[in-house]
Amino acid sequence: MNVPVIAIDGPSASGKGTVAERVATRLGFHFLDSGALYRLTALAAMKHGVALDDEAGVAQLAAALPATFRDGAVWLAEEDVTDAIRAEAVGEGASKVAALPAVRAALLDRQRAYRQLPGLVADGRDMGTVVFTDAVAKVFLTASAEARAERRYKQLIEKGNSANLPALVADMQARDARDTARAVAPLKPAADALLLDTTHMDIESAVQAVLTHYALCKARSKQGN
Ligand code: C5P
Repeated sequence: MNVPVIAIDGPSASGKGTVAERVATRLGFHFLDSGALYRLTALAAMKHGVALDDEAGVAQLAAALPATFRDGAVWLAEEDVTDAIRAEAVGEGASKVAALPAVRAALLDRQRAYRQLPGLVADGRDMGTVVFTDAVAKVFLTASAEARAERRYKQLIEKGNSANLPALVADMQARDARDTARAVAPLKPAADALLLDTTHMDIESAVQAVLTHYALCKARSKQGN
């Protein structure tokens, strides 16, 4: 298919969501926040009383997820769940349902449907390795667990929530371990991904690095054609 995809993968709180969204805005591309789909699935399971390890039950919910993204808001059926899906408990639940192969399979077509002209920036864990293996540019964005926990801590405090830094570091490490160790679509850089460590980098520099990488990949793929 001739629709360019930029795949941006990496662990939680690496800043990839913000970077991916800005890159999409700069290029006028569509944007897929695949993590939101796993969060919505977990939230739907919690609401329907479906156990997070009930693979068939959760997959059924994922396949028929009544999710819409409108003007920066996320809806589950008639309910605005923009804030609800960002809760730590829902993130935790997302990471659990994301380990179930049938759930991942159920969300595959929905993710691929975002691939529309003039292009797509896809943010997740397996965009470059599974969902869009033919992406023209792949980036694996990371930062140390401490730096990521500190970013999450600042976000929570800014929103008026209470937060505990050591607990966040432990949480981050546990989620990384689960995402990296799972049998299906584990968190790992694609062989052809650019590794971008943002521990000591601000958002704008990371955005520029991705844009430069995309320009390079695009030129290279044109030469190859
Ligand atoms: O990116 P975000 O933190 O919103 O993702 C929530 C969870 O969904 C992650 O911890 C991960 O387990 C899962 N996920 C995934 N594959 C993706 C995106 C997210 O497994 N492409």
